[in-house]
Amino acid sequence: MPTDFDTIVNLAKKRGFIFQSSEIYGGLRSAYDYGPLGVELLRNVKDQWWRSMVRMRDDIVGLDSAILQSPEVWMASGHLESFSDPLVECRECNARHRVDKLEDPDTCPTCGNSGTFTDPKEFNLMFKTHMGPVESEENVVYLRPETAQGIFTNFENVRRTARMKLPFGIAQIGKAFRNEITPGQFVFRTREFEQMEMEYFCYPDDAADTFQEWVDLRHRWYIDLGMTAENLRLREHDPDELAHYAAATYDIEYRFPWGWDELEGIANRTDFDLKAHMERSGEDLTYFDQERDERFIPFVIEPAAGASRTTFAFLLDAYTEEEVRGESRVVLKLDSRLAPIKVAVLPLSKKSDLVETTQKVAAALREKWQIEVDLTQSIGRRYRRQDEIGTPYCVTVDFDSLEDNQVTVRDRDTMAQDRLPIENLATYLTDHLPA
Ligand code: GAP
Repeated sequence: MPTDFDTIVNLAKKRGFIFQSSEIYGGLRSAYDYGPLGVELLRNVKDQWWRSMVRMRDDIVGLDSAILQSPEVWMASGHLESFSDPLVECRECNARHRVDKLEDPDTCPTCGNSGTFTDPKEFNLMFKTHMGPVESEENVVYLRPETAQGIFTNFENVRRTARMKLPFGIAQIGKAFRNEITPGQFVFRTREFEQMEMEYFCYPDDAADTFQEWVDLRHRWYIDLGMTAENLRLREHDPDELAHYAAATYDIEYRFPWGWDELEGIANRTDFDLKAHMERSGEDLTYFDQERDERFIPFVIEPAAGASRTTFAFLLDAYTEEEVRGESRVVLKLDSRLAPIKVAVLPLSKKSDLVETTQKVAAALREKWQIEVDLTQSIGRRYRRQDEIGTPYCVTVDFDSLEDNQVTVRDRDTMAQDRLPIENLATYLTDHLPA
């Protein structure tokens, strides 16, 4: 059963994962701020992606390209021409709607009138601004709608300086902006969001196999990080829904509360982008293969995921309500690698010698993990709070700890408790908290 949408949105706000942007001014629609727990969770998702894509591989390197790029980039990539949605406008209330998202193609969901729509018109999704003090046509620049193009325009820079040989990849995490017509469902579709994209350059004749390998690898990544396999599925794009650059695409979809929807797209972008940039810039972006004695434009396989959207899916998937000894509890069963706080250190009472030992234990653990010390309320309520934010381990310092130098470690999921010497705590946690 998918988690109820309102439940997770309320938990995200109540516990400080995600807030509405500009909330004190009534909120800016379709932009969100990540609070103390949300920023840790989002960062952990990005770190896990970076680790699997860059750190653990010798054939992929990283990049951090600029958000603002020459408008030529977007002309070459096709975004200025093709990155648009067909819109209709209601003649009664002037609301604009995406044709493909209307439940009833004849009825305006805003005012309820029928037969009031104009003919569909294309609407470009890129945010436009001006570079420099003069607001003229020559100074127009766009906020990037995908991180990918910064990778293509740096293909030769990276290949040459990092001395990469085919097949190789360039990975990037960063903000992207789209003036979405129908933002919504919390952080699922926003106008400012973060992407995690990798362009894998390969021999044209290997592209079909490489594409399948990346579909499998990316699907497995979510499952390895604890996402429920039954809540994930692969869906191949029909030819008429393929993006302007793609020869084939698979979406990895998640079972969201409103139904199956996209988490990530894996596309075979062929040589479309390198070829387009080569033609427009006049720079040589071909690759010379010494062994084959051949010069050609590499093909590209692109796994493109949304960091914010994926973070939301991990939150939804981890949310669990269960009965324990006649009482119900809420637990975020996040994989420990994603959990915002790894260990909470809790003194049984606020007595100063207990608090002092607690702070010492916490300081030693902070070298390695994200730690929280919580002094408020009863120990039971503090456990509940840590369960609700997904903290894998709670360490309790009690009165005996002052005598025997031992603490109790409580496991979030099993609630089993282990008593162990403080000096063994770091080793115990290292064994139980994988990198
Ligand atoms: N470079 C290819 C590309 O950008 P995309 O399918 O348009 O492909 C990739 O975007 C991923 O970025 C999506 O699967 C989704 O997770 C995320 N994404 C796209 N638009 C988004 C939005 N408006 N809000 C949040 N995430 C978005």
